[in-house]
Amino acid sequence: MTQAPLLIAHGLTAGYGKMDILQDVSLEVHAGEIVSVIGPNGAGKSTAFKTIVGFLRPRRGRVIFNGQEITGVRPDLVLRRGLAYVPQGRIVFPQMTVLENLEMGAYTERDPARVAGALERVYALFPILGERRRQTAGTMSGGEQQMVAIARALMTSPRLILLDEPSLGLSPKFVTLIFDKLLEMKRGGFTLMVVEQNATRALGIADRGYVLELGKNRFAGPGQRLLADPEVKRLYLGG
Ligand SMILES: Nc1ncnc2c1ncn2[C@@H]1O[C@H](COP(=O)(O)OP(=O)(O)OP(=O)(O)O)[C@@H](O)[C@H]1O
Ligand SMILES: [Mg+2]
Repeated sequence: MTQAPLLIAHGLTAGYGKMDILQDVSLEVHAGEIVSVIGPNGAGKSTAFKTIVGFLRPRRGRVIFNGQEITGVRPDLVLRRGLAYVPQGRIVFPQMTVLENLEMGAYTERDPARVAGALERVYALFPILGERRRQTAGTMSGGEQQMVAIARALMTSPRLILLDEPSLGLSPKFVTLIFDKLLEMKRGGFTLMVVEQNATRALGIADRGYVLELGKNRFAGPGQRLLADPEVKRLYLGG
């Protein structure tokens, strides 16, 4: 039985001011998948995510999440419907502790028992955050701060998480760790859509992938097929 996609972004045309960056971009995510979005700098990957989660209103096109239209819905309301977003640049509240950062992530949740349950799941996934829960987030390493940013998004137990460049700027050890964590999140029942510079690794963990270029869909298909595609290799994988 095929189920309707959890997320359907259909024919998005969007940009800043009068300038269109995205032109007729479509992306879909099914429950349980990791979907990777790759493409050169400036292709519009972050713009696509910002449009899906409501920071930008598309000039054309629609966003359907979990069977409901969310086109133009505010980001905080999109989050309440179960779509979380981790922006590019591992943004944490630097003066707050790890625990306070995580609690901020759960601000939509009133039931303390559910917050406690979410914390437990997050600490199981990122044990170091449990050990460092009293540490001020701004004093953690870049990789650790990225874990805080991801963990904060998990605090609402979202149906879908959009991660924009989770491995950007991290040391090789942390890059490997982050990709391992994405797979672990999938095994734990989360559904992910990931924008990544690290195209080979991103396609390597992806059920499906998209290549964007100059604000348009360029290639789409199963991760392994894109990895093996000679043209994708030549153009985007440095092969
Ligand atoms: N706030 C903004 N105002 C005006 N133009 C913007 C804004 N944000 C992005 N752009 C432009 O939109 C285009 C796409 O940017 P976007 O950040 O979506 O690309 P990207 O694929 O995420 O690139 P990168 O891999 O470098 O993160 C770029 O030309 C960029 O300069
Ligand atoms: Mg970007």
